[in-house]
Amino acid sequence: MKKILVLGAGGQIGSELTTYLRSIYGGNNVVAADVRLPMIDAIMQGGPVEQCDATQAAQVADIVKRYQIDAIFNLVAILSAKAEMNPMLGWNIGIGALVNCLEVAREYHCAVFTPSSIGAFGPTTPLDGTPQDTIQRPQTIYGVTKVTGELLSDYYYKRFQVDTRSVRFPGLISNVTLPGGGTTDYAVDIYYAAARGEQFTCPLKPGTLLDMMYMPDALHAAVQLMEADPSRLIHRNSFNVTAMHFAPEEIYAEICKVKPDFKMVYEVEPVKQSIAESWPNWMDDSCARAEWDFKPQYDLQAMTRDMLQILDARFAK
Ligand code: SER
Repeated sequence: MKKILVLGAGGQIGSELTTYLRSIYGGNNVVAADVRLPMIDAIMQGGPVEQCDATQAAQVADIVKRYQIDAIFNLVAILSAKAEMNPMLGWNIGIGALVNCLEVAREYHCAVFTPSSIGAFGPTTPLDGTPQDTIQRPQTIYGVTKVTGELLSDYYYKRFQVDTRSVRFPGLISNVTLPGGGTTDYAVDIYYAAARGEQFTCPLKPGTLLDMMYMPDALHAAVQLMEADPSRLIHRNSFNVTAMHFAPEEIYAEICKVKPDFKMVYEVEPVKQSIAESWPNWMDDSCARAEWDFKPQYDLQAMTRDMLQILDARFAK
């Protein structure tokens, strides 16, 4: 990867992945594009920036040509609960951006990374130790776009030799840009409430297990997979990856070790609850570990310490 385009650079993953990629490949070699400008200062000032509606093929092609892009990180998506409010928008954005990336990549010989998700599974999937290759019948439009994305990406690899690679991210926890409209967002919001000294209202029931990962591990995984020796890859789209799994009462208890006065109440949001119950309790990510040495560093305790240290310092200002 020499010249990289990040689509959706202003989003939860993009706002950190762009900076991480620039630290590895050099600021000028990573183009940050988003439909909305400006993005955060670190991105606006760290290298080239372009406004781009990724659902418009000509706009994506123009940037790829002008910068002679070798790899596209396509992070454009509407998260699960938000997409349920407007399914066609979820489909048009997720699939529109993906198809444009794949077609441009076919024409200009780029690699493509597109995150899939735990949302690519559904209630008929084995939810404990979810295997790499298993039943995928999601019941959300977000999940339908993710399964479609996995299939299309594998198709472009087999049919046109486009170097497509992908991971099924679990809920991602981060402190630069908030997610928004996701089912796993509660595990981000809870830290912000704790750091602000506010009570947290949890939208999921106690006992609702979900896979999660701290953003530094997610960034590392994306780059590690794109740099992996292709001869070792048996799978491509998409690898199960996870770092931890917990229920709301477990993340709450971990935060209370640092902030004993922190309070949480439950007010279940039915759409999020039903989505969460249809997703894995924990995935088996042994293929990612075997084929490209995936190895996350953060568990619940280490992530909690880091999140609270960073947010406490920010809110103390
Ligand atoms: N974090 C996403 C969501 O909750 C799942 O990939 O929608």
